[in-house]
Amino acid sequence: MRVLFVCLGNICRSPTAEGVLRRKLLAAGLQQQVEVDSAGTGDWHVGKAPDPRTRQAARARGYDLDALRARQVEPADFRRFDLILAMDKSNLADLQSLCPLGAGAEVDLFLRRYDLAVSEVPDPYYGAGDGFEQVLDLIEQACDGLLLEIRSRL
Ligand code: 4NP
Repeated sequence: MRVLFVCLGNICRSPTAEGVLRRKLLAAGLQQQVEVDSAGTGDWHVGKAPDPRTRQAARARGYDLDALRARQVEPADFRRFDLILAMDKSNLADLQSLCPLGAGAEVDLFLRRYDLAVSEVPDPYYGAGDGFEQVLDLIEQACDGLLLEIRSRL
């Protein structure tokens, strides 16, 4: 099974989701059976490591995101991945307009799919305060639901 997380810049939310799911898969012994990646709808940060604030907040919870590099979503992603999970509704709308006709991927809103109380992971990039902690809290919860779905599909 192949899962792609998508946000706007691929330097805050979707790399966080990639790191969180990777660790949950490792803990469950499922790392060989699931391919995980992340990408952005925008191209401003292509080739860059995740935002330093994202890396620091993730590191404090034991996730090492330092080796990740941003890339932009490409048409082939819609054939390669089974599940493409958008962080907010704007990302979802962009993905739906990019999705080639007949491509196999299921495109969905990450938090809504796993029934969290909020449907979007707020963009922390320009915000102050605990935005990065909130991103981690939401993504950790939603990844628990995603792991259940993965188990049911393998
Ligand atoms: P992300 O956050 O979509 O979670 O990676 C953002 C990163 C960069 C920008 C916007 C959002 N930006 O406008 O550069």
